[in-house]
Amino acid sequence: MAAAEQIRRPIGVFDSGVGGMTVLRALNAELPLEDFLYLGDTARLPYGTKSAGTVVRYALQAADRLVDRGVKALVVACNTASAAALPAMRERYRALPVIGVIEPGAQAACVASRSGRIAVIGTEATVRGAAYQQAIARLRADVRVSATACQLFVALAEEGWTQGAVAQAAAERYLRPLFGAVLNDTLVLGCTHFPPLLDVIRAVVGPDVAIVDSAHTTSAAVHAQLGTLRLLRRAGEGEPHFLATDGAARFARVGGRFLGRPISADAVELIDL
Ligand code: DGL
Repeated sequence: MAAAEQIRRPIGVFDSGVGGMTVLRALNAELPLEDFLYLGDTARLPYGTKSAGTVVRYALQAADRLVDRGVKALVVACNTASAAALPAMRERYRALPVIGVIEPGAQAACVASRSGRIAVIGTEATVRGAAYQQAIARLRADVRVSATACQLFVALAEEGWTQGAVAQAAAERYLRPLFGAVLNDTLVLGCTHFPPLLDVIRAVVGPDVAIVDSAHTTSAAVHAQLGTLRLLRRAGEGEPHFLATDGAARFARVGGRFLGRPISADAVELIDL
């Protein structure tokens, strides 16, 4: 049985910026009694255009900081960091549950797809690393995956340009080739920045395609893992605490949109990694 002090610790959640708030939102709904410590590495966003070595280094620095603050579990709410750095993190924090977003997303996609043709969109680094392709292949040998990098979606989401002509044109350009004559019946939003663009994405892919994002399946995985380890709180306020590496006001303003409720800039603690 875990010690009461350990159970009371927050769950650490990490992303390159505010995209991981889409996962935090689902975690908060799934585990309302838990406290969360969210770190957005806003000073170094985007991760998606960086080399794998750099992403691993940045992700370990961010995770070290959360571990130093005494989190009881680590949720890597960033596909790019999950794809590049999950093995290194699991190796480094052997005593801690480390949960990424790729495996839960791949599982949800394999359940959703009837035709066995799945499209994955993510950052350049996520697509290049082929982590979704490998995770899906481990689960269903019959599936064919087409993956496309949609890096501009990250900037559009950060800018709040999730509707209108520019977002529509980007969605058309990126997604049409995946859903023109091709028979993909499932689309994985393989980047935590993409859910706010759901409407423009849906408009291109049409009503019949299953759109999967890993926020809910990741939350369920965190719930199950903490339950197995007897680390779930039985009482609590479910308070999130925010850390960012740059721009508290911007982090609060844009992050609030992703989280679905306002964040006060005063509640954002600036840190250096
Ligand atoms: N939100 C991150 C992801 O899920 C990456 C965005 C970026 O930093 O490029 O991949």
